[in-house]
Amino acid sequence: MSFSILGAGSALPSCVKTNDDLAQILDTSDQWIYTRTGIRRRHVITTETITGMAAEAARKALAAAGITPEDLDYIVCPTVGGDYITPGLGCTLQEELGAHCPAIDINAGCSGFLYSLDVVDGIFARKKARYVLVTAAEGLSRIMDWTERSTCVLFGDGAGAVVLGEGDGLRYLKLRTQGCSAPLHGRFPMGNSPWTKEEPHTHFVHMEGQEVYKFAVNTICTSVQEALEETGLSIDDMHHVLLHQANMRIIEAARRKLSIPEERCHCCIEETGNISAASIPTLIDRCSREGLFHSGENLLLCAFGAGFTSGTAILTWK
Ligand code: UT7
Repeated sequence: MSFSILGAGSALPSCVKTNDDLAQILDTSDQWIYTRTGIRRRHVITTETITGMAAEAARKALAAAGITPEDLDYIVCPTVGGDYITPGLGCTLQEELGAHCPAIDINAGCSGFLYSLDVVDGIFARKKARYVLVTAAEGLSRIMDWTERSTCVLFGDGAGAVVLGEGDGLRYLKLRTQGCSAPLHGRFPMGNSPWTKEEPHTHFVHMEGQEVYKFAVNTICTSVQEALEETGLSIDDMHHVLLHQANMRIIEAARRKLSIPEERCHCCIEETGNISAASIPTLIDRCSREGLFHSGENLLLCAFGAGFTSGTAILTWK
């Protein structure tokens, strides 16, 4: 016995920055950003906290599932970082919700939601839980260099959550890690240790875009093909495809190679930009609220990110 999705929720900070807004502070344009990425705007934290966004998404997911924070047996938070270095986002979210269950963070870059599903699969397999909350929340605007046009225009802030309950919705899940930090990483801030021999550095995200691009398209195509081969399913059996929202060109290249019909491939990147681990649960929430998912339909999820990490899952909607 594994799990099924019982409810979903998402939240974005109120401040919206369009490509034209960014063109006022950077040497860039709406035309460059939109044609290279499919992004029109992104939401950025001003007064909000990452915990606050996570709680808003989580409360919506709990309401959709018809349960309360008291009912939760575990909270798992995929994130590249919450409001504190420590405690983790899981702890601050648990406090904010008034829940009493164990809570942990998973840092697997943009693939964090898929890695969290694997952990949750183990929790259900050990019969440790009836209800688990997975809440991804990212405050990437805090770790961007807002003078570096090749990176900062791509990312945004946001949170997405799902409540999982015992069920047989998980049909396939495979993770991969290919340790390789040079092309995509953000470093911990320098401390003030009088003994450090470290070279000065910032905590901003560094990305070699073209290398990540090639990894992304290749990873989506090979992992999805592998998932179909191992399950004996075909791409026609995938009613809904939810890929990590990093770049519309990556999504389109993979969609064409895999012959996925356009209407089955759901996207929110135009409005959110890349919100890392929060992008897939945000899509799940949006599609389910629009009534796009029907009982018995298959969802194909695939994410890739810093690490390099990647994960692919097939879920049947309850
Ligand atoms: O979750 C995983 C996260 N990351 C990704 O998935 C990113 C994957 N990579 C990409 O999406 C693409 O590589 C980018 C969108 C980041 C960049 O697109 P590209 O076609 O690879 O552009 P490029 O880096 O080769 O740059 C082309 C030109 C350069 O100018 P020159 O050297 O040709 O004169 C850049 O300086 O575009 C310039 N440029 C910009 N121009 C206007 C880079 N960023 C910008 C910008 N506005 N924001």
